Amino acid sequence: MIPNEFIDELLNKTDIVDIIDDFVPLKKRGANYMACCPFHKEKSASFSVSPTKQFYHCFGCGAHGSAIGFIMEYQGLNFVEAVQLLADRVGMPVPKQHDDAHTQTQQKQRKQQQQTLTQTMATATDFYRQQLKLSATALCYLQNRGLSDEIINHYELGYAPDHWQALSQVFQPYPSQALINSGMVIDKETKCYDRFRDRVMFPIHDIRGQVIGFGGRIIGQGEPKYLNSPETPLFDKGRQLYGLYQARSAIKETGRVLVVEGYMDVVALAQFGIGYAVAALGTATTADHIHLLMRQSNDIYFCFDGDQAGRKAAWRALENALPQLKDGKTLHFLFLPPEHDPDSFVRAQGAAVFEEALLHQSLALSQYFWQTLTEKIPLNTQEGKAELIKNASQLINQIKAPALAFLLRQELSDKVGIDEYNLAQLMGQETPKRSVRQKDYHLPRQTFRQPAMMSLVQKQIRALLINPQWAVYIDLPEYLDLHGDYACLAALAECIQASAAPLNCGAVLELMRNTEFEPVIQQIIHDYLDSPELLQTDNEEDCMTFKQGMQKLLDSLKSQQIDALKRKLQDKVLSADEKQLLLRLLSPS
Ligand code: UTP
Ligand code: MN
Repeated sequence: MIPNEFIDELLNKTDIVDIIDDFVPLKKRGANYMACCPFHKEKSASFSVSPTKQFYHCFGCGAHGSAIGFIMEYQGLNFVEAVQLLADRVGMPVPKQHDDAHTQTQQKQRKQQQQTLTQTMATATDFYRQQLKLSATALCYLQNRGLSDEIINHYELGYAPDHWQALSQVFQPYPSQALINSGMVIDKETKCYDRFRDRVMFPIHDIRGQVIGFGGRIIGQGEPKYLNSPETPLFDKGRQLYGLYQARSAIKETGRVLVVEGYMDVVALAQFGIGYAVAALGTATTADHIHLLMRQSNDIYFCFDGDQAGRKAAWRALENALPQLKDGKTLHFLFLPPEHDPDSFVRAQGAAVFEEALLHQSLALSQYFWQTLTEKIPLNTQEGKAELIKNASQLINQIKAPALAFLLRQELSDKVGIDEYNLAQLMGQETPKRSVRQKDYHLPRQTFRQPAMMSLVQKQIRALLINPQWAVYIDLPEYLDLHGDYACLAALAECIQASAAPLNCGAVLELMRNTEFEPVIQQIIHDYLDSPELLQTDNEEDCMTFKQGMQKLLDSLKSQQIDALKRKLQDKVLSADEKQLLLRLLSPS
């Protein structure tokens, strides 16, 4: 058995939208994503994926499940194989099956450790924010860079005082394992001291808003200009983007996301009303970054510094983006004059000029691609053409977006004057093979639904699956005789209540996998979750209906049991215990 904690953590780190979108391109519709169902033939989309519930469901054929369930169905893998595949994606080693108890404690410890680290970062953030208010120099520095209190608060900027152990003011004991593990304190054999001293602090948030690291800028001149938190169990630089947490609503509003190089660029742009900028954290833009960016928006802009380093960074971003590209997603590159970075540019020219440049002077990926590749190659010679074919095909062959790859090949064919068929031969076999095997064809499931009426208890189970947080309203006393669907409802409630962290629908389904209640639950979702509105039921009115439903169930369970006991009483076969129970049931609660 793979421990539940592991499955929980895996599902937490996995985004079902991301997983499914790799196989079945999804379109956003309101809060959910839709596509034509991969499990039955259909012309209009009834397959829906909910990011908040981490659950997919087809309103046509009733197929449904968590991210794990999807991989099992779609790839034809068994449970362990599907877990392995998802775990590989996020780099989690799957616990060996035989050392159950051991790994379970390990998982628990890991989770606990993470919580402690998160707490440490939160406390440090608060401390630095307080300290900023007390430091005239630091405040003055930020004001001179044009930042308002509002922006300082929005990005939770702070100040690390000029002391070796300032954090000891809020952390006792000092040092602690958490301070050292979170990278806030450096542990040298002879002494321990704060990593960040006399620096303006930029907290780095993850997508949920928890602080996972810091960047600290020196005040004025000096080296290093920026000091960053080291990689820790919380902080994985290649997967995080500075400012994404703060930028999300602006990204939604404008429909675009802008990648810049520095902390100050992000903050300065926000100061000028351009709130959709994020920065990679002192690293190149990785494939994971691109993946994350594509989930935020269809239009991704890169605007790096105008210098040589900026140009290099842009090309690296393009290279890492190629395998991730999808038709319908566009990448653009804006190059600023060499003396500028986005911060200085927006200050000098204002937001309107910046956005104008972004929208009308940036190069589409394909333009930038050809411009760079042909820059230094003389295309009027055979040798030049041969070199272009070599360089371009290496890159184009990495692209999996069919339309874009096709167009780039066509362009290459024009540029070198070789027809596409011959060129294709020269370029070798294009698309890299998928690393996972895929079923050729999936038999459609039963496409009709059970017309039977739904019972109240089935309705309650359905509602609870969609809104696991309602488990708090369920209190089914043990003395009641819970059987069939009632037992299922009670078991569901119990397992949700037992979980330390809030669970979404996908996670609940995984907890019920291989239990005696799995078939009941499957049936209910398959037969009765038949319209998208049913997924949008977390308002107060629905919650009230659910609570009333629970009361009705309780009443009816009680009266059923009273009737049964009374019948027995008439036959005079009631045991002492049963008599007690009857009295208890009859007494007003
Ligand atoms: P820049 O040197 O371009 O800094 O580094 P900047 O963003 O323009 O900063 P200001 O305007 O001088 O305050 C760009 C990014 O590279 C990383 C940081 O993430 C920085 O924001 N960097 C730079 C470091 O991590 N360490 C350094 O010493 C310098
Ligand atoms: Mn700068």
